[in-house]
Amino acid sequence: MAQQVRGVIARSKGAPVEMVTVVVPDPGPGEAVVKVQACGVCHTDLHYREGGINDDFPFLLGHEAAGVVESVGEGVTEVAPGDFVILNWRAVCGRCRACRRGRPWYCFDTHNAKQKMTLTDGTELSPALGIGAFAEKTLVAAGQCTKVDPAASPAAAGLLGCGVMAGLGAAVNTGAVGRGDSVAVIGCGGVGNAAVLGARLAGAARIIAVDLDARKLAKARELGATDTVDAGSADVVEAIRALTGGHGADVVIDAVGRPETYRQAFYARDLAGTVVLVGVPTPEMQLELPLLDVFGRGGSLKSSWYGDCLPSRDFPMLIDLYLQGRLDLDAFVSETIPLDGVEQAFERMHKGEVLRSVVLF
Ligand SMILES: NC(=O)c1ccc[n+]([C@@H]2O[C@H](COP(=O)([O-])OP(=O)(O)OC[C@H]3O[C@@H](n4cnc5c(N)ncnc54)[C@H](O)[C@@H]3O)[C@@H](O)[C@H]2O)c1
Ligand SMILES: [Zn+2]
Ligand SMILES: [Zn+2]
Repeated sequence: MAQQVRGVIARSKGAPVEMVTVVVPDPGPGEAVVKVQACGVCHTDLHYREGGINDDFPFLLGHEAAGVVESVGEGVTEVAPGDFVILNWRAVCGRCRACRRGRPWYCFDTHNAKQKMTLTDGTELSPALGIGAFAEKTLVAAGQCTKVDPAASPAAAGLLGCGVMAGLGAAVNTGAVGRGDSVAVIGCGGVGNAAVLGARLAGAARIIAVDLDARKLAKARELGATDTVDAGSADVVEAIRALTGGHGADVVIDAVGRPETYRQAFYARDLAGTVVLVGVPTPEMQLELPLLDVFGRGGSLKSSWYGDCLPSRDFPMLIDLYLQGRLDLDAFVSETIPLDGVEQAFERMHKGEVLRSVVLF
């Protein structure tokens, strides 16, 4: 029997979000219905509402979530009802050319639930990032559920489902930050500050946080930044070079995703260093760089999809570190809000007042 639950949708481009009744089908083969306990408000939800991702309105928003599996469909063996899980938006297929080459974190054919959640009039909803967790229950592919230790708080655990994993993984997985490295992070929202945390976890010796907002820089210090640069007043490239013996950082992470921040990352990096782009640009943005500099500065220019994470490998491990007090996920939860508080949370995010607002059910 399909169920009816409350959920938050973006009906049309730029319009405020609305609370509606969502029809959640019973899980089919390979699917699971999850009772959502917590879901963070991510910048990408706002991108969806503004039509910046695609035009498949109405969207069922929310994708940074943890909850408990309620029911599973035929053939599901990886999770069972009652499991505490973090939802992921890159359920790997195991069969594509990336998976077959042993690099499943690049999977080119990630999957979602086949059935659609709908409005009561039958209108199909597009779940944000194939999740749609600003809803009391959501239907996902079973592979989107990763079982973790239920001792973790749902609000903190859910954040690993998107922004925190993306930032942490940008440092640890994509940037392969190592002991003693110097790292600079441009843009210290939820994603960038998670990269700061990841750099510290990996043993970076110097961690330089760059942002326009003093509140974000103060948070970065709490999370392990050794130095901060106010991008509004300083020359970012010169400041990072000055803090690294005149050379630039070994790894520079762009957690904003604009041509000007990418260029800063490119030039603030030491010779043969690494640039990691984890901020997501918009379609009209163009980048121009002297090709000779691309060659002459060497090293690598990488993008980080979801922090190059492998949920089955990374989520349980990071939750264990959190429970041991070695990974401060709680620091990212600025406030908890009810399901009808998403629109106001977007405003606070826009004003830079929060790292993460988290909807608690
Ligand atoms: N690659 C991925 O898989 C992935 C996953 C999640 C989010 N993202 C993207 O990461 C980006 C950051 O997300 P977020 O949730 O942290 O957003 P956010 O809005 O919380 O943070 C952005 C931060 O960048 C700062 N900033 C803006 N312009 C700047 C500039 N010119 N110089 C320095 N700092 C500047 C802002 O003050 C803010 O603190 C977004 O583009 C988001 O879509 C990527
Ligand atoms: Zn694959
Ligand atoms: Zn997100």
